[in-house]
Amino acid sequence: MDIKSEIDLDKLPRHIAVIMDGNGRWAKQHGRPRVFGHKNGVRAVRETTEAAAELGIEYLTLYAFSTENWNRPKLEVSALMTLLVETLHQELATLLKNDIRLKAIGAIEQLPTATYKTLLEGIERTKTNKRMTLNLALNYSGKWDILQATRAIAEKVNKGEIKPEGIDDALFASHLSTGQVPDPELLIRTSGESRISNFLLWQMAYTELYFTPVFWPDFGKEHLYKAIVEYQQRERRFGKTSDQLVP
Ligand code: FPP
Repeated sequence: MDIKSEIDLDKLPRHIAVIMDGNGRWAKQHGRPRVFGHKNGVRAVRETTEAAAELGIEYLTLYAFSTENWNRPKLEVSALMTLLVETLHQELATLLKNDIRLKAIGAIEQLPTATYKTLLEGIERTKTNKRMTLNLALNYSGKWDILQATRAIAEKVNKGEIKPEGIDDALFASHLSTGQVPDPELLIRTSGESRISNFLLWQMAYTELYFTPVFWPDFGKEHLYKAIVEYQQRERRFGKTSDQLVP
């Protein structure tokens, strides 16, 4: 049976997060340099974004560059930054045509100037789009996010704007870079690794984790559908018992 038709459109996750992993190993398998893997990863980004928007997913967050990725060889880092600029330029028209809003989370002001500027331009030009938000995590890590939220809250406490006892779950979450975006219900990680790798740590407290052996450049629409079908088969209890759940 066609996997897409197995998806229950009334029970879609609102927010899907993806750790796009395995570009380097895919390239190695093909006897090519790592950058070739990243270039082919762009095709998977395009296809996943299109499939998510077509289904009616509201938020898609892609882990494109982690705080730790700066430790990669200099050439690979600069190739990734250039690829990002090229891709954003190439895809802007498609994002506009498809009513997709671009956003970014992470310390993006520390990115190379060309990358930062292109990103800001993409965010600005798509800011009134409504169909889906494509959120790129760039120079992002979950610990960084928790720290920057803590600092922002501490400053408000210092100024007397917030009382320490007023810091609750909702207030803390609103200071994270994801702000008012709902927590992801589903995380997909490709390439057979079963780790969170410092991604959305606070936001993934109750996220369903889906790991697939497929390398990111091979990931496509059907793989996304399969992940959603499996997510829908799971029972999300949020600490309750099965009997307490309303059907
Ligand atoms: C992980 O594979 C992939 C990355 C660190 C970069 C992801 C970037 C892209 C897919 C291209 C551009 C993205 C956008 C949003 C336009 P890896 O290099 O860690 O692979 P490995 O684990 O096999 O070495």
